[in-house]
Formats: sequence, C-alpha cells, structure tokens
Amino acid sequence: VTLADLLPSLRSSLYSRLEVGLWPITARCAPSGDVTVGGVSLTDVAARFGTPVHVLDTADVRARCRSYRCALPDAEIVYAGKAFLCRAMARLVEEEGLSLDVCSAGEVAVARAAGFPAERLVLHGNVKTAEDLKAALTAGVGRIVIDSVEEIQALSDLAVRPQRVLIRVTPGVDGHTHSAVTTGVEGSKFGFSLATGAALDAVAQVLACPALRLVGLHCHLGSQITGVSSFELATHRMTGLLAECARRYGIVLAELNLGGGHAIPYGAGAGEFDLPGFTRRVPIALGLECARHGIPRPRLTVEPGRAIVGRAGVTVYRVAVVKRVGDGRRIIAMDGGMSDNPRPALYGARYPVRVIGREVTVSLRPATVVGRHCESGDLLAEDVSLPDDVHAGDLLAVPCSGAYHHSMASNYNLVGRAPVVALADGRADMLVRRETEEDLLRRDVG
Ligand SMILES: Cc1ncc(COP(=O)(O)O)c(C=O)c1O
Repeated sequence: VTLADLLPSLRSSLYSRLEVGLWPITARCAPSGDVTVGGVSLTDVAARFGTPVHVLDTADVRARCRSYRCALPDAEIVYAGKAFLCRAMARLVEEEGLSLDVCSAGEVAVARAAGFPAERLVLHGNVKTAEDLKAALTAGVGRIVIDSVEEIQALSDLAVRPQRVLIRVTPGVDGHTHSAVTTGVEGSKFGFSLATGAALDAVAQVLACPALRLVGLHCHLGSQITGVSSFELATHRMTGLLAECARRYGIVLAELNLGGGHAIPYGAGAGEFDLPGFTRRVPIALGLECARHGIPRPRLTVEPGRAIVGRAGVTVYRVAVVKRVGDGRRIIAMDGGMSDNPRPALYGARYPVRVIGREVTVSLRPATVVGRHCESGDLLAEDVSLPDDVHAGDLLAVPCSGAYHHSMASNYNLVGRAPVVALADGRADMLVRRETEEDLLRRDVG
C-alpha cells in the first residue's frame, strides 16, 4: 500500500500530472481530470467528433520543425510524409520551411493538392510503380531517390527533361533498433549495397543516362534510433563513397542525405533521439571526412518523420468493455485498436494510457488495454496503471500517437478510419473526417 493509496487527495493530484515528454507541448491537465490540447478539452473533442479520434497539436508540430531548423541551420530538413500526411500537414511543414518526402502517387497528389512547392518534394520508395514515377514527373518533384536498377531504366525512359536524382545506398550500418524498422544493414530490401559495389555500379548507370542528373547520395538506417554513433558511422562510409565517385567518375555530388529515424519516447523514461548530439557530432564528422578525402563538403539533408509529428498526436478512445479474466488480469477493451494503430501488432509497441474527463479518487491498478479487433495481438498496453473503477463509457487518451497511426490505419473488420482534428488556440478544426459506411461501400462495386 503506497501513500497515494492511503490519501485520496494525493492520489488524484499525482494522477493530475502528465508524464513529462510524452504529451504535446500545449497539453495540460485540468482539475476536473480532463486534458486540454491547444486549449481545447479532449472530452469536448470526443463529444463533438466521436471516438476514436486523433488530435494533432499544431503548435507542437511547428515547434519541432523550428527546433530542427534551428539545430541544423545549414541542412535541409525534409519531413517524411509517411509518418502522417494530409493537406493541412503538408501546408504546415511548408510554412515552417521544410521539404517533404513522398512515397507514392497518392502522397504526391496530397502534396500537390496542398500547393506544396514541387521542387521541395523528394520521392522515395523501394518500389515506385510507373504511376508513382509518372505522378512525380508530372508534378515536377525536385528529386527522386533511386532504389533499384529497374528504376534507373524506368525513370530514364519516362523523364522528358533532366530529372535530379539521388541514389539510395545500403551502408551496412546498424541503427540498433527493432528489426522490422532496420533498413541500413546488408541484406536490406532498400537501396544499393555499398559493400558489394552495387552502389558504385548504380552511380555509373545513372551517369550513363542523359535524362538523369545525379546530385547526391542517400541512406536511411531505420526508425526509432536514439544514438548518434550509427549516423557518424554512416557519414564516414557515405563520405568514402562520395570520394570514390569523385576519383572514379570525376563527379562532385552536392548532397548527402542521411535519412530520418529519429526516435521519440513512447513511455516514461524511454530514450529519444539525441538531436543536440547529432548537431554537434555529425556535421563535424562530415567536415573531417571530406577534408581527409579532399572533396568538397556536400550539403546535409535529414528526413525526420516521427520526431516531427509523433508527440503532437493524442488518440482518444471510449472504453467499451471491462473484463476480469481467468489469470486475474483486468482487460479494458476500447472502441478502436489495430485499425487506427497497427504498431502494437507490427512491432509489439506499447503505449501509455490515461483516463480523462473525470476525477480519479480510487487506487490505480494494473490493467491490459486491448482493441476491438479480431486478433489477440490487438493490444495497446500491458500492466498499465489505471483507476480501479474504469468502466464502459470512460474516455482513454493515448499520447505519442501522431506518427504511423493514421497513415498506417486500415479498414480491418470494415471499421471506418478515425478522423484527425487539429487543436490550436482554443479551436478544433477537422483535418480528415471519419470514414463512413458509405465510403466503405463506394469501393465495393461487385
Ligand atoms: C527514406 C526514409 N526517410 C525517412 C523516414 C522517416 O523515418 P522516421 O519517421 O522514423 O523519422 C523513413 C521511414 O520509413 C524512410 O523510409
């Protein structure tokens, strides 16, 4: 029995604090037990837009963009749209001076619809279909990051004017992250291997295509990387390749893109990407390596996705069912799950969860929080402390849910995808509406 168990006032005051570093910068706990974001009550958002609902703290997104620009003033910051993209998000990062990484004809279409400057678009993907390439070329995207021999040929056939390209390299560097999001190691499906010489061969092939103008090299080590040393090693290897390009082919490449993958914490005390360390160490490593090889220093590019939008997002669910199961666990089932957040099922990700919208006067006890879908892996939190009296109808808020949630959402069990609502300055603006049964049936034409 803790002191908080004995003193209800202490208990409710402890519960009325938000875990540091996990919530959007404008998030506040109200005495009533509600949480506000951008000055808007999440309980009101749930009442107005229904649940589940994703909210986005746009001040948080802007602050993250600014901190990247401030930390790396000489670098290009490209927001990885795969983390979350809609027209408003594209406009937001555009206003903050970032470029935008797009991965498909669909993402190109959203960027175009938002009026995003085409020259600041970077097209990625290990498979770019002819439709993706045509959409990118029609839009006039600034750069295409080539990922395969097939793509060199396809792009060269389609391009009607010189297209600026980079080559994606697999540098053989481990980002020490989950295997499902590790991309920089030998054997990865992404890019051209540095070790086997495939990357250097790809450079020669691109140089032989008059329609393609090689401007740089790219690598992306993976996602949820906390440390800087893998980026230093990648800088070392990639600079060696730039030097080899200079020696062999007499070319000077102006850009080195080190990708994204900067981690955010998903739980109290969890590590986050060391941006100050990156800022201190990587540009120095780049300068030293270039000097050692006697080549001009290329401009650095980074591509954070999650680190820009992850912490700006909170998802609000409603509790539907509370069960006590055979092994004694309390299972709390909510009205969303793997259709709005597949990360637990994909990588075993777990989240902090909080009851909002009412005062908490009882003890906190461990609970397992699950989704509504027909998979046992549809499990959001295990052994999370939640009030003993959680019941159907309560609201649950899940922070750190701005990245790879809505963008990875599905219609599993034919549940319509949740809306996204921007919260700022006391206003709630719907960015993406809830998907309806009509939407679902419109595609079902058989
Ligand atoms: C090429 C590339 N750049 C950037 C990113 C963004 O990664 P993160 O959101 O972890 O920063 C990804 C993610 O898959 C990627 O594939």
